[in-house]
Amino acid sequence: MLKKKIVGALNNQIGLEAESSHLYLAMASWAESQGLNGTANFLYMHSDEERMHMLKLVKFVNERGGTAIIPAISAPPTKFSSLQDVFKGILEHEMMVTESINNVVDICLSEKDYTTHNFMQWYVAEQLEEEALARTILDKLNLIGESTGGLYIFDRDLEQFTPTEETN
Ligand code: FEO
Repeated sequence: MLKKKIVGALNNQIGLEAESSHLYLAMASWAESQGLNGTANFLYMHSDEERMHMLKLVKFVNERGGTAIIPAISAPPTKFSSLQDVFKGILEHEMMVTESINNVVDICLSEKDYTTHNFMQWYVAEQLEEEALARTILDKLNLIGESTGGLYIFDRDLEQFTPTEETN
């Protein structure tokens, strides 16, 4: 049976993963409206992944006697000035998510909940990958600069960056 404090921390993380899914969805929609279909596909897929991150937490909480709370989600931005703007936003967002995951891990340790601590290690590893991916993409965008041809190739190639991950 999960302790109240652990359920609270996990429910907070459920909200954050839901917000992440929504943010990626907003970015995907913007990219699609700009004709950046490769980027849009990458971001739509990532939005689905974030929903899986949320679901995994929901199931964990419910299967261990807690009650997962599905929260309201605030509206994400609708406009972005450039692809750099999008991926800078992603990196900042993921760094904030990493901090939150680390906070859950801290709470698990202070509450001596080693089962949840073990479960959270999947998220710790996932955050490492997500931050690294955002940095790699940002580096590429910085190399391309304002080159239209470069952006065309970037958009076409972005689907290859889609990570294959286990969500269970
Ligand atoms: Fe679920 Fe991108 O963190």
